[in-house]
Amino acid sequence: MTTFTRISEADTPTISVHAERKISKINPNIYSGFTEHMGRCIYGGIYDPGNPLSDEHGFRKDVLEALRELNIPVVRYPGGNFCATYHWLDGVGPKDQRPSRPELAWQGVETNQFGTDEFLKWCEVLGTEPYFALNFGTDTAMGWVEYCNGTGNTYYANMRRKNGRQEPYNVKYWALGNETWGPWQVEQMTKEAYAAKAIQWAKALKLLDPSIVLILCGETGASSWDYYTLTRCILPANSPLSTSAQALIDMHSIHMYTASTCHVKNATAPLAAERAIELASSLIDLAMIENNVPPEQARPTICFDEWNVWDPMRAVGSEGAEESYTLSDALAVGIWLNVFVRQSKDVGMACIAQSVNVISPLMTTKEGIVKQTTWWPLWLFSRYMRGWTIGAHVSCGAYDGATEPKWLRAVKDTPWLDVSATIGDDGWANVIVVNVHEQRDFETKVEGVNADEVQVFTVTGEDVTVTNMKGENKVGVVQSVWNGKGLYTFPKHSLTMMRWSTQ
Ligand code: AHR
Repeated sequence: MTTFTRISEADTPTISVHAERKISKINPNIYSGFTEHMGRCIYGGIYDPGNPLSDEHGFRKDVLEALRELNIPVVRYPGGNFCATYHWLDGVGPKDQRPSRPELAWQGVETNQFGTDEFLKWCEVLGTEPYFALNFGTDTAMGWVEYCNGTGNTYYANMRRKNGRQEPYNVKYWALGNETWGPWQVEQMTKEAYAAKAIQWAKALKLLDPSIVLILCGETGASSWDYYTLTRCILPANSPLSTSAQALIDMHSIHMYTASTCHVKNATAPLAAERAIELASSLIDLAMIENNVPPEQARPTICFDEWNVWDPMRAVGSEGAEESYTLSDALAVGIWLNVFVRQSKDVGMACIAQSVNVISPLMTTKEGIVKQTTWWPLWLFSRYMRGWTIGAHVSCGAYDGATEPKWLRAVKDTPWLDVSATIGDDGWANVIVVNVHEQRDFETKVEGVNADEVQVFTVTGEDVTVTNMKGENKVGVVQSVWNGKGLYTFPKHSLTMMRWSTQ
């Protein structure tokens, strides 16, 4: 948690880091990914059979190697909007017998050459855990869970064995639909219809496999959909709607994408997600209070299973949504990740949307990969910002112009220096400072550094518009050392990570 005091622009900013004040554990699942049958994410992204860069399964080895650098705990699949009409059965069994189908979400053709077994194999090869989003539009849930996790002598568990996999996959995370509130969804629902169906599905799925984690489909976290679905579905385990001693809903999903052509609005927009998390957390509490959920029942956490910088007008979904990210976008991603670290008490998972090619920090060509500007904050966070969120306080000036979204200005400050801090189990303190100011460096007092050798990693570039997509690496990480004394200057439009041993 980072607190903030606004001071005059003329005064020297201060960042105080309190390594001894551990606030909440950071769930490693905040560094999760997302792969959708959309554009070149699967075909030509993670799966590219026949390419010399691919292995015997058709998996791109260079993509796997890059993703391993991020140590990704969970990857969501197969959508997104794609899952609304997807039938998992189309994507299992002999490949030459799998049907090609019209794909309605992104208006293409799905060949089904990559499906459940391929994805689960890819997860094993990458070393990550799968998270499936259930099709809430054409009802295929029970059979899919049975196929993946069934251990008995039953139809779909036997189908899995016949397809070459004896042991259950034990897929733990299952989403009860995706954005079912959206007009772009097949079987778009009212909140009333969704809540009624979700709770019955949850009951059936937990009867089938009590070990799974079920994720309710929320909206932005700050909407009447979120309020209604939470209050209808977060129930005591022994409520009349439930049949077991177990809670039916474990997590609440929210989605948000941010973007603006104005740099400072773009960089500060993820603070809207912070307010949304705070509001969703309160709605979870409200549901627990209204429904008399006993204190010993685990409190649902937030599954922020789609987040990123994305302007769907400039990177159109049906055209593959390939963004060319700027330095400004990299700073926005830095603030997105600061938000998840600061809000670690409530965030049980966060999935960047998406992991390859589609609105992604990692791009493929037939010849190799490109790490976009946004790769570097993600790389730094996933490498070092683990363990515990610790207390920090920032005193600095703030941007006070219009924001994106507009409502952000009314409910939150947008400081020039956006900060989160952690301490790892190894005793190293880590601080990330994003200076969103386009013109000003800030000489800053950094309190709480009890070391005379501080490792510093800086992500910046000539100006906020530079990208890595034109054959040049304009944005990367530059490493240096600071002696921990005096003032430290955070350069304009930069992300700085400082880390030191507290022992
Ligand atoms: O990630 C791209 C799309 O954005 C997903 O398919 C959908 O869930 C969201 O609207």
